[in-house]
Amino acid sequence: MKILTIIGSPRKKGNTYQAARQLEEEMKKKGNYKFEYLFLKDANLEPCTGCFNCVPNGIEFCPLKDGREIIQEKMFEADGLVIGSPVYVMTVSALLKNYIDRLAYLCHRPEYHGKKAMLLCTTGGMGSKETLNYMETVVESWGYKVAGKCGLTKAPWPPTNGLIKKNTKNLEKSAHEFDKSLKTPNKKKQSVGLKDYMGFRIVQTISQNANEYLPADYQFYQGKEYYQPAKIGFLTKALSGVLLKVILFMMKDMGPGEEENK
Ligand SMILES: Cc1cc2nc3c(=O)[nH]c(=O)nc-3n(C[C@H](O)[C@H](O)[C@H](O)COP(=O)(O)O)c2cc1C
Repeated sequence: MKILTIIGSPRKKGNTYQAARQLEEEMKKKGNYKFEYLFLKDANLEPCTGCFNCVPNGIEFCPLKDGREIIQEKMFEADGLVIGSPVYVMTVSALLKNYIDRLAYLCHRPEYHGKKAMLLCTTGGMGSKETLNYMETVVESWGYKVAGKCGLTKAPWPPTNGLIKKNTKNLEKSAHEFDKSLKTPNKKKQSVGLKDYMGFRIVQTISQNANEYLPADYQFYQGKEYYQPAKIGFLTKALSGVLLKVILFMMKDMGPGEEENK
């Protein structure tokens, strides 16, 4: 199985890369995994200009013609994705944040449903929980299922035996989870719970109500029952209809206003 590992550290042989190599070793004990490393430092990814074309109009309207498409092709081809970042001031590195910003449209139109991801960060001691939670929110909004979140402490001084054991245990646990998830085939029709279905229905309805402003979303959600073939229970459908009305009422001031209010 092909695993694409995206490294968000500017230090190519730094702690995050070393941790990813350890993960690779651990995974290779479990199965026939082939790891490819993609260093964002070398990926020819320009900084997002903030034009916001990609979200309402489509990624094809992004004015930057650079390495983004190649990265996305690799993400599509891989069976699993590992994203690794050092913790920089309690969150991901600027390199990783730019990669996330360049794919901002995916939060509106997730294209990676059915794919599995593992998240990895290294820190001097603080911020791994916040960083991993942030990465998880982002990657899930792209459609990935997160299987394994691993934060490793790499202090600038020699580690104690206790820390080495803790890091190893942490890495082994995440590798186990990722391997298990990769080996579990996706069901032809996935059962969808109320929370996920509601999330889908809310964006779908917004895309219908604001089709003039979000044409790419409108096209993406039109005629879809869910992001992928899914089993949606009668009760889930019925309850979501009622909840949707309540939520959209609560969100009424967030929608488009009258022309004269512009
Ligand atoms: C700009 C910068 C900011 C950092 N911020 C934090 C931080 O908020 N918390 C922390 O514990 N370590 C912090 N560190 C330490 C790194 O997270 C840590 O050394 C990491 O393992 C580096 O990974 P790398 O070698 O792959 O670049 C920071 C390091 C740098 C260079």
